[in-house]
Amino acid sequence: MSVRSILIHPDPRLKKLCDPVAVISPEIGKLAEDMLETMYDAPGIGLAAPQVAVMKRLLVMDCVKDPETPPRPMVLINPVITWSSEDRSTYEEGCLSIPEQYADVERPAAVRVRWTGLDGREAEEEFKGLWATCVQHEIDHLDGKLFIDYLRPLKRQMITRRMEKLKRERARG
Ligand code: NI
Repeated sequence: MSVRSILIHPDPRLKKLCDPVAVISPEIGKLAEDMLETMYDAPGIGLAAPQVAVMKRLLVMDCVKDPETPPRPMVLINPVITWSSEDRSTYEEGCLSIPEQYADVERPAAVRVRWTGLDGREAEEEFKGLWATCVQHEIDHLDGKLFIDYLRPLKRQMITRRMEKLKRERARG
């Protein structure tokens, strides 16, 4: 396993529609392992393939926060939201591609998601709370959408300018 580098917004690859995973090849298995390691290393609770520059519909997440609870690493291939609750909830979201920027985003409070697992099996589950927010945020990445796209233009532009500055500073070393 290895930690991959995470693309930082703004980057055209974070704005693209990703392709479905056609075959669960060994490369896809390696990608999922690397993404989990990258996510835990960051640390974060979710990561989508385009964030590591792979334009495929695959995400990983683990929203277990309680240190007493065992981790629950999940790999979702070609995830689809099959139901969204009318109830909505607001969470302060962040993103590993937009470091240290946080903002409230309102989304359906619960969603049902269908996906293919690494073993090739179909799975479906209802997510609530932080898990629901996280899975929606990560599926958005597969459609080229970031959480800042839900914010007012002024706030979004402010965050984007900060990220451009961060990238210039990092490029200079
Ligand atoms: Ni994100």
